[in-house]
Amino acid sequence: MARKALIAANWKMYKTPDEARAFVETFLPLVVSHSRDEIALFPSVTSLATVVKAAAGSNVHVGLQNMHFENEGAYTGETSPIMLKAVGATHTLIGHSERRQYFAETDAIVNKKLHAALKHGIIPVVCIGELLAEREAGDTAAVLKTQLTGGLDGITAEMAASIVIAYEPVWAIGTGKTATPEMAVEAHSIVRAEVARLLGSDIAAAMRILYGGSVKPENASSLLNEEEIDGALVGGASLKSDSFSAIVHY
Ligand code: 13P
Repeated sequence: MARKALIAANWKMYKTPDEARAFVETFLPLVVSHSRDEIALFPSVTSLATVVKAAAGSNVHVGLQNMHFENEGAYTGETSPIMLKAVGATHTLIGHSERRQYFAETDAIVNKKLHAALKHGIIPVVCIGELLAEREAGDTAAVLKTQLTGGLDGITAEMAASIVIAYEPVWAIGTGKTATPEMAVEAHSIVRAEVARLLGSDIAAAMRILYGGSVKPENASSLLNEEEIDGALVGGASLKSDSFSAIVHY
């Protein structure tokens, strides 16, 4: 079954609303006729509404980098699924390694956010990946399986169709060190097998598994031409419209 790739930009804590709007204005013409892959932008929360408006009617989806699991409440600094939808966004990242590393997100929190996203019809991109020490200790498969088992707890095959997984080895994020296509394919195969165990082989066969970690225009095609790699989650190289569009056109 052919899976439509998703090429996604995680802007992290970069870009003011004006900078975000300027990006979209130069980026849209570069991808206007691109239908092979889905494209999504994940701006910071202050730029979310601006980017949704700037991309309205285009082939570019917009989402949050992080979302709380409650609809509303006394959660200072957080953004709820209802707020995300109210501005017209459709996607959210969940459990990015920077959220896990700096904001103590656990698999249990990832799981609550995933349930909330699915309940609200928001497309979740669930991020998993091993630390360098875990890879060097030979624990990559065990770490990915633990993150998936915890993250997908209570999710059934009926609920799972929209879930996207992003495999982002932590040692490759922002370091310029990319996983080789072979390493990424090996990890994606582990992820797909674990998804099959948890949710069945039909869901696993249809699930998009993105690679993230120092994806650049120069290495995008070698990664994305692999059948096991169903798209990319791009940080640094997504901040400029020319380099991100070059990745989209890998
Ligand atoms: P870089 O592309 O900057 O390595 O970041 C990857 C990432 O964290 C995307 O979510």
